[in-house]
Amino acid sequence: MDISKIFENNRSWVENKLGNDPQYFENLAKGQSPEILYVGCSDSRVTAEQLMGLGPGDVFVHRNIANMIPNLDYSSMSVVNYAVVHLKVNHIVVCGHYYCGGVKAAMDSADLGILNPWLREIMDVYRLHKDELLAISDEDARYRRLVELNVQEQCVNAIKIEAVQRAYRERDLKIHGWVFDIKSGRLIDLEIDMQKALQGIHQIYHVD
Ligand code: CO
Repeated sequence: MDISKIFENNRSWVENKLGNDPQYFENLAKGQSPEILYVGCSDSRVTAEQLMGLGPGDVFVHRNIANMIPNLDYSSMSVVNYAVVHLKVNHIVVCGHYYCGGVKAAMDSADLGILNPWLREIMDVYRLHKDELLAISDEDARYRRLVELNVQEQCVNAIKIEAVQRAYRERDLKIHGWVFDIKSGRLIDLEIDMQKALQGIHQIYHVD
């Protein structure tokens, strides 16, 4: 790839935006009030705004390997807290995707060095749901199911956060688990019942 082409692309993008609205960037510079926090995978095939048909200013985005919100990860914790407490987003979306390399790596036994503790977070999801997963004989189907269960567990990780619990109680913040199906381009809503998920973990993770 010719990197200088990117600056050409940028110039035509700016012209295009200004052609539609001469104040476009001046208005963007005034601030942001996105309604959605999107936590997705870093995978180059899975965009954030583009696959949702949204643009600059619409979504607060956090991406990492396998769309994780691990308890001790200060980066994702800071993003969620800032989005919920300061930007007051109304929706948290955790979006996984089929054929996720991170999830695949967690199903294998390769030593990936510094990646190992990150992948162990996904292995923990596997262990939590091992009865269901090991009952699936087709490896591809098991892989897809682990992608879905990982999204579900990251939604649970989000609801463990005190600021999220508070916003859930006080202003009905919604949490959504989605999967992007790369083969069809479609977004799938896993329709995770957060009320039910919260009841299951409330006793242990409840924060006043
Ligand atoms: Co991925």
